[in-house]
Amino acid sequence: MFCAPINPADLNMIEGKYGESRDLPDVPGSEGCGRVVDLGAGVDGAWVGRKVLVDGQAWRQSGNWPLDRVVAVPDGLAADHAAVLRVNPPTAWLLLHQFAALRPGDWVLQNAATSAVGRAVIEIAHQRGWKTLNVVRRAAAAEELRALGADAVVVDDEDMGAAAKDVLGGAVPRLALNAIGGESATRLAGLLASGGTLVTYGAMSKEALKIPNSFLIFRDLVFRGFWLTRWLRAAPPDQVSSLFDQIFRLAASGCFAPRVVAEFPLAEVAAAVTRAEEGGGKVLLRIGG
Ligand SMILES: NC(=O)c1ccc[n+]([C@@H]2O[C@H](COP(=O)([O-])OP(=O)(O)OC[C@H]3O[C@@H](n4cnc5c(N)ncnc54)[C@H](OP(=O)(O)O)[C@@H]3O)[C@@H](O)[C@H]2O)c1
Repeated sequence: MFCAPINPADLNMIEGKYGESRDLPDVPGSEGCGRVVDLGAGVDGAWVGRKVLVDGQAWRQSGNWPLDRVVAVPDGLAADHAAVLRVNPPTAWLLLHQFAALRPGDWVLQNAATSAVGRAVIEIAHQRGWKTLNVVRRAAAAEELRALGADAVVVDDEDMGAAAKDVLGGAVPRLALNAIGGESATRLAGLLASGGTLVTYGAMSKEALKIPNSFLIFRDLVFRGFWLTRWLRAAPPDQVSSLFDQIFRLAASGCFAPRVVAEFPLAEVAAAVTRAEEGGGKVLLRIGG
């Protein structure tokens, strides 16, 4: 292994607050980048030497992964960049493509817009001709999100609804992406068109959704959930490889650059996890060369 980021899901898994638990002892790490050095019986010899992304158990020097849990990285993509491409950009891509048939110029709403998923949503939507209204905790983040292609950025407080309506100017979005929960999700859903969909894929505030009865009775809003793991387990291999083709193509054009705030050697993984809990960007475990 070369390197691996620490994602919120890794922290949740370690805390025992994830969607499924694992038998101990176990190796954490939802994603990372390494190089194939040896093969199991019957595997095509062309894999030796290839740079790959691994699915799970990434925080270690070396290990065995089944062939369907590695993805070959195209030549020219740096390991640090590739290491953050297996979880968050595919999630952003699927959130934007699986829940609404968006037309050019349509608005998409999202909170946690400063997250890696949020940034990828902005970059993909910008490329596809969809507009994003991005809700953030810190007003200071607006400039960097606009540089990625964000069309509008508003702050997540009790005035958010009014500020967002000013920006939307009568447009009524049909898709909202929620990774926070609680009041933040309620405010986001409040901006949706009748029959619109709010997709919950994260719960950074750890607060439950609060759905007013009127959102269901009078506006027939749809509340969905998304989990990449479930999608990957069910998707046929050609859909998975086509998804990663799109992600690598966009990464090669400069999208999904990791926002690394700190690096730690694997031997200092406990300090790395502590730093990751403070937030502010990704912590990268530097494993080998
Ligand atoms: N369902 C799936 O398949 C799937 C896949 C990938 C990710 N996810 C989820 O998506 C979310 C984002 O993941 P990521 O790796 O993109 O995150 P990240 O890059 O580590 O960023 C974390 C984000 O959460 C915000 N945040 C942190 N604590 C918060 C709190 N208490 N209240 C409100 N906002 C808070 C941060 O805002 P600041 O920038 O202001 O600190 C930042 O926007 C996580 O919940 C993750 O588990 C789900």
